Amino acid sequence: MKGSRSPEYSKLAYIYDTIMEDVDYEVWADFIDEIIQTNHPDPVSILELACGTGSMALSLDELMCYDIVATDKSPHMIKIARCKKRDNRWSDVDFEVMDFLDIALDRRFDAVISTFDSVNYLHKPRDIVRLLKEIKKVLKPDSIFVFDFTTPKNSIRSIKYLNNEEGYAPGNYRFFRKSSYNPSSRIHYNVFDIEKLDNDMETVLEKYHEVHKQKIYTLPEMLDIIDETEFTLLAKYDGFDLVEADESSLRITMVLQCPTIQ
Ligand SMILES: C[S@@+](CC[C@H](N)C(=O)[O-])C[C@H]1O[C@@H](n2cnc3c(N)ncnc32)[C@H](O)[C@@H]1O
Repeated sequence: MKGSRSPEYSKLAYIYDTIMEDVDYEVWADFIDEIIQTNHPDPVSILELACGTGSMALSLDELMCYDIVATDKSPHMIKIARCKKRDNRWSDVDFEVMDFLDIALDRRFDAVISTFDSVNYLHKPRDIVRLLKEIKKVLKPDSIFVFDFTTPKNSIRSIKYLNNEEGYAPGNYRFFRKSSYNPSSRIHYNVFDIEKLDNDMETVLEKYHEVHKQKIYTLPEMLDIIDETEFTLLAKYDGFDLVEADESSLRITMVLQCPTIQ
């Protein structure tokens, strides 16, 4: 049976939390909260872009009484996020389907966040400039945008453990991942073959093929892109500490401030 090609984050939604099970979102949410509190005097409202299955928003919501709207382009990821919210009855995160290149919200926030390489899905610097223009529409004056991106060094390192990954996920899914990095185009590919199995866990009922392409930016490139916009760089953090990032960092979290006059 040949797998049909599915759009990014459609079938992957069903195995996403399994492939992320080593990521401690509670610790990560702590770090994001520390960044927000460090760089904003009185944060109340947060907009998350590219929230995936909602793990960051739900962890942040558990940590602090923020008013959180969490959005993602994939309706499949948002469907799972809403199911997780139903399981956590205390949560009042508002999950919505939204493309971050076309932000249509009639309110402004103290902080906008986007974690786990989501900005790397933008393949051209002009797309990141466009993203920042969209974000400006929903930030209050002097509020912040916090996002991370992954660097070439991280891609080279991560293919060693990401490539040839295989496993099972709830709902009778089996998956295989091929991960490769092209250092000249600086595109990181993650190709997933996902199978829906019968209850015997052997018979393959359906097969899907999802190709994920991420553009891997260097720190100087990202700084040049930000320079083209009206945002000011407040901080750049290395990994998961409030330590200054440099060109040897694997993952960098940027904090940008929105211009006062809009
Ligand atoms: C690597 S996942 C990260 C998800 C989540 N932030 C996390 O930490 O688990 C990337 C996410 O970006 C979303 N995404 C990609 N392009 C997008 C766009 N143009 N607008 C909104 N979301 C997008 C995908 O649907 C996917 O959920």
